[in-house]
Amino acid sequence: MASKIRIKKQSFSWINPKLEIRNTGKYGKGFFATENIKKGEIIHIFKGEKISLKEGLKRVLSGKENIDDIFQIGKKTYIDLDYSSRIFNHSCDPNAGIRKKDEMFALENIKKGEEVVYDYSATVAPTKWSMKCKCGSKNCRKILGDISTIPQNQLKKYRSVGSLQNYMVDVLKKIRRDRKGNVILPEYELAAIKKLNQKVKIKI
Ligand SMILES: C[S@@+](CC[C@H](N)C(=O)[O-])C[C@H]1O[C@@H](n2cnc3c(N)ncnc32)[C@H](O)[C@@H]1O
Ligand SMILES: [Zn+2]
Repeated sequence: MASKIRIKKQSFSWINPKLEIRNTGKYGKGFFATENIKKGEIIHIFKGEKISLKEGLKRVLSGKENIDDIFQIGKKTYIDLDYSSRIFNHSCDPNAGIRKKDEMFALENIKKGEEVVYDYSATVAPTKWSMKCKCGSKNCRKILGDISTIPQNQLKKYRSVGSLQNYMVDVLKKIRRDRKGNVILPEYELAAIKKLNQKVKIKI
């Protein structure tokens, strides 16, 4: 009888041969296309260790990980990103989007030499995360926030081309706002912010 071969499940970094890491000259390194990439083509699958919100918090609070390197794929499920998945930068006018749980695809034809960038905000559920943006695009939002801060017309575009993660489609249906239009954060998110505030100051 043939013996079973056990393959240990582990995350590994696969780098698309059409990508190369280069210095952006504005915000560290980034991934650039070494060949033309066609609209709709899969560019990358985000990989890493699958962890809970609780474990993600633990890693950020202990200083083991940076908050940007924990990528959300479900309501309370994250990936502690592997090396290659940490290289992509943000743009407010992205040429790549994320769909399903973790699949990056080309939103348009990307020419050889162009940097591959996605909209970080589209992958962040309502929270108080923010980041200064230096993308330099005409419609740069300057200060990035979670998905609820993306202009409605842009969000509509992401939806129409399928550029939203599955969990995010669900999150968007459940977003509640107060009378002033501010997003009401879920309880578990507030608890996480409270913990994070002991480490990094997040205004609420
Ligand atoms: C996941 S890393 C991307 C790789 C990073 N450029 C590097 O050299 O390691 C995310 C970090 O890159 C920088 N970054 C990415 N996109 C940016 C943007 N549009 N404007 C300013 N900084 C950006 C920020 O420092 C952010 O915390
Ligand atoms: Zn920008």
